[in-house]
Formats: sequence, C-alpha cells, structure tokens
Amino acid sequence: MSTSSRDMLVTSALPYANGSIHLGHLVEYIQTDIWVRFQRLRGHRCIYVCADDAHGTPIMLKARAEGISPEALIERIGVEHRADFADFHIEFDQYHSTHSTENQYFAELIYTRLQDGGHIAKRTISQAYDPKAEMFLPDRFIKGECPKCGAPDQYGDSCEVCGATYAPTDLKNPISAISGATPIAKDSEHYFFKLADFQPMLTQWTQSDSLQAEIRNKLAEWFKAGLADWDISRDAPYWGFEIPDAPGKFFYVWLDAPIGYMASFKHYCERQDLDFEAWWSPHSPTELYHFIGKDIAYFHTLFWPAMLHGAGFRTPTAVFCHGFLTVNGQKMSKSRGTFIRARTYLDHLDPEYLRYYFAAKLGSGIEDIDLNLDDFMARVNSDLVGKVVNIASRCAGFIHKGFAGMLATELPAPSLYAHFVDTGERIAQLYERREFAQAMREIMALADQANQYIDEQKPWILAKQPARATEVQAVCTQGLNLFALLMTYLKPVLPAMAQRAEAFLNLEDAGLDFVTLHRPLLGRTINAFTPLLTRIQPEVIEAVLAASRESLAPTAATPAAAKSAQAEPISAEISYEDFARIDLRIARIVDAQPVEGADKLLRLTLDLGGEHRQVLAGIKSAYAPESLPGKLTVMVANLAPRKMKFGVSEGMVLAAGPGGDALFLLEPDAGATPGMRVK
Ligand code: 2FM
Ligand code: ZN
Repeated sequence: MSTSSRDMLVTSALPYANGSIHLGHLVEYIQTDIWVRFQRLRGHRCIYVCADDAHGTPIMLKARAEGISPEALIERIGVEHRADFADFHIEFDQYHSTHSTENQYFAELIYTRLQDGGHIAKRTISQAYDPKAEMFLPDRFIKGECPKCGAPDQYGDSCEVCGATYAPTDLKNPISAISGATPIAKDSEHYFFKLADFQPMLTQWTQSDSLQAEIRNKLAEWFKAGLADWDISRDAPYWGFEIPDAPGKFFYVWLDAPIGYMASFKHYCERQDLDFEAWWSPHSPTELYHFIGKDIAYFHTLFWPAMLHGAGFRTPTAVFCHGFLTVNGQKMSKSRGTFIRARTYLDHLDPEYLRYYFAAKLGSGIEDIDLNLDDFMARVNSDLVGKVVNIASRCAGFIHKGFAGMLATELPAPSLYAHFVDTGERIAQLYERREFAQAMREIMALADQANQYIDEQKPWILAKQPARATEVQAVCTQGLNLFALLMTYLKPVLPAMAQRAEAFLNLEDAGLDFVTLHRPLLGRTINAFTPLLTRIQPEVIEAVLAASRESLAPTAATPAAAKSAQAEPISAEISYEDFARIDLRIARIVDAQPVEGADKLLRLTLDLGGEHRQVLAGIKSAYAPESLPGKLTVMVANLAPRKMKFGVSEGMVLAAGPGGDALFLLEPDAGATPGMRVK
C-alpha cells in the first residue's frame, strides 16, 4: 500500500476574525482535515496550516462598536476559533494570524518585489465617502434603493430582491450603513496590481492539473472578460498593514490574507527548524494545496498565483474548491435555527457525527452539499453505530468471556481479510481524489460484509457448544480484524473513535494506519469493550435548533447586533396596518432570575395588568437580575410563544443598543401603568 513519501503543505481558507465558526465553515475544515490525516496515515509528511484573517473594515468597525481595540477583538476571536477547531478535531500544525510580524514581512516583501518588477500602478479614482464617519465606504457599507427594481435597503453591490448586480454609485438615495449620512464622491490615489502582466503565466498554470474542470471553465470566462488591474490599497482609517513609503495607505485585506498562508508556515518553520525556502522557492519539489470555497476562486486562482510568481515564489500545486452548505435543503437561516454555530453544535453533539456526515456527502466537485438533519441522524446511527460499532460489540464479549481477551492465532477466513485489505487501496485512491462520499460507501459495503460473515457464522450458537469453542474464538477474531480494518479506513474521518478502537484493540503504541494493515491481529489480548459511539437522539437535534434560534433573540448580544451599533440603517418601510398588528404593552417586571446554563438570558416574569407572562430575555450582561423587579418596560404582547432550549418565551421586551453591557430597556414616563397599550 505504500507509495514513496511526499512533502505536502496544505491550507484551508483563513476565517475572518469577526465572527464565530459555523457549520458552513466546517465543511471546508473537515474536508481538509480528513485529507491531511489521510496523507499522514499513508506515511507522507503533510503540514496543515491556517490562521485568522484579521484585517479589514468589518473588523475595525466591530471593534469600534464594542468599544475595544481591533487587537483585543482579534485576540478574543482567535481564542474562540482555535477552541472550536480543536474540538472538531481539526488538527492544524500551525494556526496563526494575518496580523503577525511574519505576515507584515511577507506582504511588504511581495509588494516590493512586484513594484520592482513594474507590476504596481498608481492612479486616482473617485469613490463613495462618508463625510460624517470620515472614511471611504466599502460597497457592503452603502445601502439604498435598487436601481433596477426599486427595492429599498439594498447593499451597494447587488439586490437581494431582484438579483441585479451594480456599482454602489448606481443605488438610488444611497446612505452610509455606518453613519446614515449620504455618501459623497471623493478622489484618492490607489495602488493597483497589474494582473494582465501575468496572463501568459496564468494561462499555463490554469491548464496544468492545478484546477478542477468547473473552475478551469470559469477561468476561461474570466480570461475572456479580460484581466483588470486589482486595487490593492485602502485609505486610512483602515485596519491593516500600512504600505511601505505610502503613508495613510494600507494593503487591502485580500492582499495580505493569502500571504497569511506563508506567514503561518514561516512561524511553523521557526518552531520546527524547517527550511522555509525549500518549500516556497520556484522549483520546490514539495507540494502546495489550498482548500477553499468556490466563492473565493478568483483570488486563489488568479491574483494569488500571479502575486507569487511575480515575487519569485512557487505557485500552488492545486487549488481545491468546494460548494456551500445548505441545511434541510435551504440556505442556513437564523430564524429556522439552521444557522448553527460550531459551539452550539458541540454543546449538544459529538463532532464526529458531523465529520462522518460531511465525508459521506463530499466529492471532488464544487456542488453544494446539504445537511438534512433527519438523514444526518439516520445515517450516523445506521452506518456508524448500527454497522461498524456493531461488529466489535458482537465479537468482543465472546473473546473476553471465553478466552480472557485473547485473540486466535489464525484467521478462519483469510481471503475475506485479504479482500478487505485489497479494497483498502481503492479506498485510499478515493481519499486521495477527495471522493470521500464514494470512500464511505465502499467502507460501509465492507461493514455489511463483515456483519454478514458474523450472521452466517453465528458465534452465539457456537458458544453454546463447548466443543466448538475454538471456532467461536476464530470467528470473533476474524470479526475484530475486519473491524480493525474498517476503523483504519475511517480513521481520517473519525480520529477520536479510532483512538478509542485502538485502546480497545490494545494497539495504542502502534496505532492503525494505511501502511501496516496487511498484518492481522493474532494471538494477542484485547482490552474491555466500551461503547465506541452512541446513537443520536432526535431531541438532541431539536435542542441544537432551539439553541440556534435562541442565540438570535433580538435583545441578545449577537454579533449582528454589535456590528450595527454604529448607526443601524433604517429598515424597509412597512404599512401602518403592519405596525398596528404589533401589540405593544407596558409591563412591570415582577421577577427576574438567571437561567441556569444560559450565559445571556434572564427569566423575566412580567405583569401585564393582571396577566402574568414569562419572557426569556438576552439582557443578562447588561442588567443584574435584582435591579429589575419593579421596573416598567415595553413588551411585544402578541408575539407567538417561542419554545427555546430553556423554556417557552411568551413575548419580548424591548431594548436598544448594540448588545453586551450596552443594552437599554425601554421605560415609559411616569404615569404609565401595566397593561396600557403603546401606540
Ligand atoms: O472569505 C473569507 O472568509 C476570507 N477570510 C478567506 C481568506 S482565504 C486566504 F486568502 F486568506
Ligand atoms: Zn432589485
């Protein structure tokens, strides 16, 4: 099974340091981690690096809204991201940050080399400027009416109602999403990377084996449309690295983001005493792979190889794109509770369930994948618990009861074992080609064969006949050896379960791998069998959805609320009739209690003038419970009761502010009494 050892450097896209990791992100990290673990199990040196993408306007504004420095924000988010990844068994060799000395060094180096090569142009352009916030506005921070269909409240690049794409200057009645001011046009000098200089090199690169067919076709379209200069500078105030010899000008976040791959690897090299140059020089024999989402292919298949080439570095061996995640067939939705954060999932479910499910769905293409929650539960329960774990649990007891944990010295069905070993090579090829779904199907077909073998041999019947004891030992030894092979094949996907299986099989020293699997486990003892994985219960899935819905309660300190703290743009117009349907009432808080297990919630008992209501409100970081009883506030009284993880909430209290401790309950003037309608 072994091939000669390769040196590989693998990356996943760098997540922005302004929000939590959610299941959509995890498709990529799980896909990459499985591939990396597979390569290591094949005996290759495979180094996996990543980092937080720590620069740019959204991070600057979020920090401002929270009243903290961007450094403090990216530090906090970095800690959160690392913990989420670690708990999903994503095993980076290095997780770094683009706000690092290494990254500044390489960003400046690459830029300077490109400039020396004549690939940087300067020219003055006119852009939208917020005169109140005193800053240029990225497209996403300009809102207005769609120039095509007139829909209000649309962003500066595309309309969510009619799908039109346009320039922010085309929006009607534009406003700044930062301050609400009307943007003006303002001139400023920008720096551009002359991508078209690299057309011949890129044509060649894209025709090699570096790209998937779908992406290669996309590139052909982009080439046809012409390779435009890329604006790589942003004016102060901007959160990033200042451009050398250009005071007040900063590298656009997307310039230094991919350089973060190098920076992270450089940090690793220093720790491990590895020769960075040997991996990044133009004719390096090492391999470099980037796993990314299809939405950022342009950056990785055009700008990035061109920048590397222009600066005298090697180009990627391949860029692997994947599709997006849908949940229950739809875009992840906060109101449906399907926008599930990594941490919310981890609070309820074993990460390996999701690793397996994603593996069972992933291929080498760029199609979107769907997490259907019913199918997720059924598949994990039937494949992993019902098929794979079942083999071990059916055999282990007999080996312990009758043979003090000792395996037989010979396999009774060596050809079946050989068939499992041979199929391993095919499974390895599928892993190599990122055809994980097909690999999982092969593995489950083998699991069916192993169960069928046990069904046919019926060790439970043999065990009743003392004269046939050695047969029981032989059959169960065979079963456990087939199980060991299955766990080897699943190990890239299920590393923690594989570790438990290794402990059970008494293999902790050597470990299961793809190199030594032709040697069966014979004449040795195994350890006691403990359940390797338990079934998913439907109520746990419900709890995940409920908790994901809960984290959206408008009064909670969600990142979305914090982001809009500067000045939340006014929402789309509603009719008076729409407004009149909302029954707002004065309520008196009669009791406020913390909710066990919920960081942000208080359980409020509200008096509506005789009637009492229980409301779960995300105001704990702003109000001590004992400060609330007696206070009057405003509540939405006709909101349908919502079942949350911690109970039913029968309405909502109104509070203003970005969230966290900056949250202010609305209070009526003196004279208002509980139950009064607010109009
Ligand atoms: O799209 C994103 O989430 C970016 N933060 C990805 C950056 S990948 C690399 F270029 F750094
Ligand atoms: Zn429109």
